[in-house]
Amino acid sequence: MEMTPKQIVAYLDDYVIGQKDAKKAIALALRNRYRRMQLDKELQDEIMPKNILMIGNTGVGKTEIARRLAKMMELPFVKVEASKYTEVGYVGRDVESMVRDLVANAVRISREKYEKKIQKDIDKEIVKKVVEILVPKLPTNATQSAQESFIKTYNTMEKKVLNGSMDDKFITIKLPKNTHVEVFDSGAPMADISIMTDAIGNMIKNAKNNTYDKTVTIKEAKKLLKKVVKEELVDEELITKDAISNVENGGIIFLDEIDKIVESGSNKGQDPSKQGVQRDLLPIVEGSSISTKYGQVNTDHVLFIAAGAFHISSPSDMLPELQGRFPLRVELEALDESALYKILTNTKNSLLTQYEAMLGVEGVKLVFEDGAIKAFASLSAKANEKTEDIGARRLHTVIEKVLEDISFDADEKNGETIKIDKKLVEQKLQAIIESEDITRYIL
Ligand SMILES: Nc1ncnc2c1ncn2[C@@H]1O[C@H](COP(=O)(O)OP(=O)(O)OP(=O)(O)O)[C@@H](O)[C@H]1O
Ligand SMILES: [Mg+2]
Repeated sequence: MEMTPKQIVAYLDDYVIGQKDAKKAIALALRNRYRRMQLDKELQDEIMPKNILMIGNTGVGKTEIARRLAKMMELPFVKVEASKYTEVGYVGRDVESMVRDLVANAVRISREKYEKKIQKDIDKEIVKKVVEILVPKLPTNATQSAQESFIKTYNTMEKKVLNGSMDDKFITIKLPKNTHVEVFDSGAPMADISIMTDAIGNMIKNAKNNTYDKTVTIKEAKKLLKKVVKEELVDEELITKDAISNVENGGIIFLDEIDKIVESGSNKGQDPSKQGVQRDLLPIVEGSSISTKYGQVNTDHVLFIAAGAFHISSPSDMLPELQGRFPLRVELEALDESALYKILTNTKNSLLTQYEAMLGVEGVKLVFEDGAIKAFASLSAKANEKTEDIGARRLHTVIEKVLEDISFDADEKNGETIKIDKKLVEQKLQAIIESEDITRYIL
């Protein structure tokens, strides 16, 4: 189940073109988590994750790498934008909330895993509950023959409920009233007393009168009871414990847009709140204990991967202490014409595939000729050169421009095949690209 560095890189290769160094650094960091876990506890404590800072122009795949990691990972993982946070004491999200998000994610993973494991028990219990309503219990002093016939009826009924032949029949089930009381996040500001009183009020109400009757089809009952049974069978404590341990040993926080909390040399000190956020980050990245609604979580071994374009500022503008906490630096390269071409042709769910699928809904078949794809790439590269380099995002604007009209009229073209060739692309774009001013506004 644990992926080797090569497998991780191969997986990322399906979606992200180039950026070898970044992929390699990340693959290694992930593998090192696994390696560390194989060691004895004493050594484990000593081995700290080496946090990574990815630096690269806009639109070269930083966030894309993170998105793909998120889908791939079985470890707790969150991607957060550094720009979302505010310094502790100010209105907004404080940086500790990223750890709480991570824990919430871990709990979800652990719960899914646990529920899968006890799925059979859950299903069995649901059927049992339904059958017990259909076949009322016998009094304890029932005769031998009554008992035998009871067992017989019970078993037939069980079969019928299981195979769905009773699904249309109605039964009355007992459901809990609002069993779920949101316990406020212990890490959140406690100022709002009203939340607390509400929560307590609900608890008291529910304790007094906690079920109600509902008459539904058996099919519906099975669905409704699922939640009830889950709540009965799932061991929350076990899940929480597992989740916290996973966070502490394998958790990863992807801190995107880190450059947005860094001021450039000349502007330094103008926006103290940015520095404040950086300062608040220090203990978390270094390792500290954060309180969450699931309990205390230690971040000593949480891996941080930060990414930023650093257009205006540079990594050396970060607080020195924060710089020091991201020892591994990787640069992502700019995307040239051939990389752009590969992004269109060699990635899963590429932009072209997306367009084909979208217009397919209207019954229009799009066919991209290779010449057209090459033209997309070369014109995008040209536009990037002439104006700002916005990386692969340029492909979006360029292709959209070419397909705009086709997409607009697609509903009238049901059943048609539309060929996109080089001529069409150039005809739509050449004039725009030649003029720098127009490029600036249109692409
Ligand atoms: N190397 C790449 N391979 C495949 N697709 C890419 C690559 N780089 C960028 N893209 C595509 O371009 C778009 C923008 O990329 P992404 O969001 O990763 O940019 P970024 O590096 O995070 O930029 P920013 O600094 O502006 O946040 C996405 O749709 C992504 O799929
Ligand atoms: Mg990004």
